[in-house]
Amino acid sequence: MEAMAYAFQCCFWGLTLSLFPYFIQSVSNSHVYIVYLGHSHNKDPFLTSEYHVQLLANVFKSKEEGKKAMLYSYKHMFSGFAATLNASQATILANTRGVISVFKSKNLELHTTRSWDFMGLTLQDDYSEGTPLQLAYGDDIIVGVFDSGIWPESASFKEEPNLGPIPNHWKGKCISGEEFNPKKVCNKKLIGARYYLTGFERRYGKINITKNPEYISARDFLGHGTHTASIAIGSRVTNANFFGFAEGTARGGAPRARLAVYKVCWNRNFDGTCTEEDILAAFDEALHDGVDIISASFGKRPPLRSFFESSSDIGSFHAMQLGVSVVFSAGNNGPDPSLVGNVNPWSICVAASTMDRSFPTKIVLDDGSSFVGEGLISKKISGTLARARSYFFGGICNTRNWMNISLSGEVLLCFSTDGPVSSEDAEFVASRANAAALVFVQPLTRPVAAVSIVPVVRIDTIQGTKIYLSSSSNVTKVQILPSKTAFKRSPAPIVSDFSSRGPSSISPDFLKPDISAPGISVLAAWPPNVPPSIFPGDKRSVDWNFDSGTSMSCPHVSGVVALLKSAHPQWSPAAIRSVLMTTAYNLDTTGDDILVEASTKTANPFDIGAGHINPLKAIDPGLIYDTTTRDYLLFLCNSGYTDEQIQAMVVCPLTTRCPNKIEPNWNINYPSITISNLKCTTTIKRTVRNVGSMKTAIYFVKIVNPRGVEVVVWPKVLVFSAFKEEVTYFVTLKPLKKSQGRYDFGSITWSDGFHHVRSPIVVQLNTNEVEAGFGTMAY
Ligand SMILES: *[C@@H]1O[C@H](CO)[C@@H](O)[C@H](O)[C@H]1NC(C)=O
Ligand SMILES: *[C@@H]1O[C@H](CO)[C@@H](O)[C@H](O)[C@H]1NC(C)=O
Ligand SMILES: *[C@@H]1O[C@H](CO)[C@@H](O)[C@H](O)[C@H]1NC(C)=O
Ligand SMILES: *[C@@H]1O[C@H](CO)[C@@H](O)[C@H](O)[C@H]1NC(C)=O
Repeated sequence: MEAMAYAFQCCFWGLTLSLFPYFIQSVSNSHVYIVYLGHSHNKDPFLTSEYHVQLLANVFKSKEEGKKAMLYSYKHMFSGFAATLNASQATILANTRGVISVFKSKNLELHTTRSWDFMGLTLQDDYSEGTPLQLAYGDDIIVGVFDSGIWPESASFKEEPNLGPIPNHWKGKCISGEEFNPKKVCNKKLIGARYYLTGFERRYGKINITKNPEYISARDFLGHGTHTASIAIGSRVTNANFFGFAEGTARGGAPRARLAVYKVCWNRNFDGTCTEEDILAAFDEALHDGVDIISASFGKRPPLRSFFESSSDIGSFHAMQLGVSVVFSAGNNGPDPSLVGNVNPWSICVAASTMDRSFPTKIVLDDGSSFVGEGLISKKISGTLARARSYFFGGICNTRNWMNISLSGEVLLCFSTDGPVSSEDAEFVASRANAAALVFVQPLTRPVAAVSIVPVVRIDTIQGTKIYLSSSSNVTKVQILPSKTAFKRSPAPIVSDFSSRGPSSISPDFLKPDISAPGISVLAAWPPNVPPSIFPGDKRSVDWNFDSGTSMSCPHVSGVVALLKSAHPQWSPAAIRSVLMTTAYNLDTTGDDILVEASTKTANPFDIGAGHINPLKAIDPGLIYDTTTRDYLLFLCNSGYTDEQIQAMVVCPLTTRCPNKIEPNWNINYPSITISNLKCTTTIKRTVRNVGSMKTAIYFVKIVNPRGVEVVVWPKVLVFSAFKEEVTYFVTLKPLKKSQGRYDFGSITWSDGFHHVRSPIVVQLNTNEVEAGFGTMAY
């Protein structure tokens, strides 16, 4: 236990690596590289693999040596392999004909903050209660969840009543492994389970469960995969709650959809680590198995790499071509701009926002004054208020200061700004000092209650300051009353502080994130063997737990995509993304613009993309922005790939080639319009298809100009008929001001009176010539 506590404590300071020599394996100057060769073009997988071995044999002394270096051969739906190579071997392969890219494999991280910063709480009550939509659709859809595995015994993965047979197109399997017997745990709900450990073990050595506990199987050691899977497809379970909080029926977005688990993320110091070669192997097999949707709540921190030098982007590119939607989390690196991840134009990238539920918790001082924060307090707590500032100069609530202080029976008051310290640091202090509770003051407009080892109430700076000032004597008595579960809290949603923001750092002409969904304090299934918090000494066992992160918002969208795909099987991944984006809402429960957490500002498309997901509207969107092979051809041409390479990457052979004259990416038929460098009047093109129930439809345009830009749409009226399902329109953007580098936002909405098809416009004007002179400087 002591060793464990030490590990936890070290994580607080971010010093994990150097303390774990076991994890550091230096394999001379070799590294795992991924060699990508494009689409597999329906070749025999065996022959494809043979070819990979042959390529490796060319850079090793023998075929045997080449085989030994190989970790994976990707051979089903696309072609490539992962192997341990040195730099010169990698260079030779990169210059081999037919090779599209060679890149060093990196680690990706799960987009949760269960680890530290954003442990929170929630039930996905956002979708109106018991809507038939959820139960009418989904049986025929298979959602592949790439994550830390699954706790199969959770009630969320039991079969819904009258669930039909496993869909015919399923070719996958449940693979047995440690504490994972497919005969016992797989059913018509959990239809597939695989795990990918080769890359992880090549990097960190064989898993030694004494030092690094894990299940060598698809079973979930971390809880993250169980949580995300149940958000997407969890069956209905009544009386779900966390120690009485948020009690209600838990269910995923598509409770009748099937689950296929691909475990690619493994425990490493109680965080999930996922290697790129394992991820790409999961993509190859999942696409072959027949999943309809892939939900992936992980990513890489910037700097991002080009799309065809990244497993997630390559895997999702092939998924898209096969009609499989891939939903990614945007990352938890907010609120600074340009840190959004998973920004490729063929997937869906999801930001996180709040729901309308809260856990108000009352604090009463002995002078009668009372305050309201957020907490998960189940029993009334009384004690003396211990102001951290009375103990130390500066009152910094970190373990170094508080190692030997006992606060038995006292309620510790800490300010995040003293230090500064994180809530987790202060919780750790309170727990070590044996305090009765912690009141944590942080400068957020809406502190989030989070699962902890000590009772915590989070409170804003204004109230916290009052408590501090009114408790001038050291013997102030304080009472904390049990928290309540409150609904219909307004305003909601609010974009979370941690959600990663646009613009995209590698492709600023595509707006990312695409959309926002609930990701704060989400209540979902949890393995009873995994404590609900990672604080040392947490011995609680729960079936449901609160968690926050874009990891949680991503599967909300995956669940909705399952419903949409089930209702409209012919819709392409681009069409599905289009309907999610064009029907998203931008106003909160008060009818005002959606706000940004921890500020008083309103959200813009870099925070929430097209807006907050609106599943009921998405099912009947009116119009669709689809993309064609030509759109992606254009994109690949612009990315510098040759005609030959592009032919190798696409499933359908192309008859056209890259245009001689470069046509910019902003003409790709994306449902949002982004021009990251508008210097002069520019016209762009979009095509919409009518998918409304009426073949004859007339749509009128409504424009909101970005500040300083005049937007002219032509034609202003779109007329659809049985003979004309698709109509193209043009948007001319004319700069009216001198500006350099400032982003402005507007929108175009097409409406037939019933449907409102909205596209955000994002422009960055660069009309102000910056003179490289010194003339204006005063000497
Ligand atoms: C890379 O590996 C090959 C094959 O083992 C070897 O011949 C070559 O010398 C190595 N190159 C470097 C720079 O280590
Ligand atoms: C695993 O780690 C434990 C604890 O350090 C050690 O005693 C044991 O020998 C290790 N087992 C293997 C197979 O390396
Ligand atoms: C805590 O107490 C121990 C033993 O009484 C002492 O050795 C140590 O220096 C103290 N630590 C601090 C930070 O005061
Ligand atoms: C509060 O306690 C601190 C530390 O014990 C002491 O220095 C201070 O004088 C006390 N203040 C009051 C108002 O009692």
